[in-house]
Amino acid sequence: MAPRKGALKDTLLTTTLNDLLQTDVDAISAYSLVIRQLESKVRKEIVRRYQTDHRRHVRELKRLIQAHGGAAIAVSHMPTGPFKLAMQAMGSAGGDRAVLLAFKANERQGRDKYRRAAATRGLPRDVARVLKRASRDEERHYQWAEKQLQQLHAGRRTAVGKAAGIMEVANARTVDAIEEIEKPIMTVLEATRRGVRAAAKHPLRTAAIAAAVTTAAGAAVALRGSRRR
Ligand SMILES: [Fe+2]
Repeated sequence: MAPRKGALKDTLLTTTLNDLLQTDVDAISAYSLVIRQLESKVRKEIVRRYQTDHRRHVRELKRLIQAHGGAAIAVSHMPTGPFKLAMQAMGSAGGDRAVLLAFKANERQGRDKYRRAAATRGLPRDVARVLKRASRDEERHYQWAEKQLQQLHAGRRTAVGKAAGIMEVANARTVDAIEEIEKPIMTVLEATRRGVRAAAKHPLRTAAIAAAVTTAAGAAVALRGSRRR
């Protein structure tokens, strides 16, 4: 099969979609834990409904990845355990408050990731439509958690809310940094997968694309490292 025009662009697109897919897979299992741990039946039911949004994201992302020539990687991110970490950190708050504080920290990550992805310029129309809708879902989930916490006197302005807010931001940054390291690996894997298919007819072009992807990925990791120093 001949390589399609914009192979590099497609590779980067499907890498981003795969990253979102893994975030959704993680969210589905985190939600199961939340549903089990929440005391309020009403809250359980709402989180169960939100979980079906994530299941829809998974279905739609898989379809998009395939439509744009990629291979869906529906596995969890590296076991950084962001949710478990947050649970431990918030443990002292007790009851639904503790569960919701951890849930909110987890939702922030998904919300920000979808927000960034949906705001990308030049997305294919089918991708833009799915990402915008999913981004709105994530905003809704996050806002719901925030409202519940206000009702439980653990809103943003309370002492526990403020402490949790600091943890939430720190947690999101740590998880983002770890997952950013995975992205270049996924990109190279994806480029190699596509490259193998394209190599038969255009070996030079394929090699150039693979080299460009590897260099860009390496540069991204180096830049991140130097910025932190
Ligand atoms: Fe969510």
